[in-house]
Amino acid sequence: MAAKILDGKVLSAEIREEVRKRVEKMKACGVTPGLAVILVGDDPASEIYVRNKGKGCEETGMLSRTIRMESSTTQEQLEAAIQQLNEDPAIHGILVQLPLPGHLDENAALAKILPEKDVDGFHLVNAGHLMTGTEGVLPCTPKGALYMIKSTGETLSGREAVVIGRSNIVGKPMAMLLLQENCTVTVCHSRTKDLAEHTRRADILVAAVGKAGFVTADMVKPGAIVIDVGINRVDGKVCGDVDFEKVREKAGWITPVPGGVGKMTIAMLLSNTADAAERTLER
Ligand code: GUN
Repeated sequence: MAAKILDGKVLSAEIREEVRKRVEKMKACGVTPGLAVILVGDDPASEIYVRNKGKGCEETGMLSRTIRMESSTTQEQLEAAIQQLNEDPAIHGILVQLPLPGHLDENAALAKILPEKDVDGFHLVNAGHLMTGTEGVLPCTPKGALYMIKSTGETLSGREAVVIGRSNIVGKPMAMLLLQENCTVTVCHSRTKDLAEHTRRADILVAAVGKAGFVTADMVKPGAIVIDVGINRVDGKVCGDVDFEKVREKAGWITPVPGGVGKMTIAMLLSNTADAAERTLER
């Protein structure tokens, strides 16, 4: 039987609607949540992401500000822009769009964002909170992916989860979140031997590789929950890391690309920004 589709459009709409209501309440108290996105250079994919983030803010009633900087921007200029936003009371969330041009130090830049305004959850303080299971800001993509996994209603505790990819943005935080749900977690990567041996055991399989069609049907356990984090472009068409048509015949649940995890990332970014604004109201 074909897999059930985990529809990012439907699931992200639930979150956006909840955020919209929270924004309305905050506005009634005189606070409009504000998100600032710093975009350095002119990477076309980043342009699209940033535009979608702005649209999401608009739809939920938040203030959105995009700071565009030349690809020749220096580290000092970037960090000065971050500092300005740290000090701006109208801005509750700051996001530096990655990747940055090669001459810039990503980790150093992210470290300059105030942890409470770090709506990406990339600051070392928030990474530490995730590692220790204490309250902090969770990275948007893994948070959105977990929401999708939970929406299946399946029990996660004790299940085998396999994450392909070990990036700081997706793979590592995804593994930590699944571990918190009491899954037995395996993280696979480019040096993993016999990858399919691992993936075939997965009740939950998360692919964050960046290669179109990388996960084939023979790598998937029948009935598995398959989460495709990939966004690849093949002949101008957007597709994920999973061979969707073949894998959907074998999996129990699957996320499409487009219309899957990507929608959830933006919804969680809006939710994290609403959280950050609510924290200023509580103070
Ligand atoms: N580039 C690709 N994904 C992301 C993300 O989640 N946040 C930021 N800041 N940059 C990205």
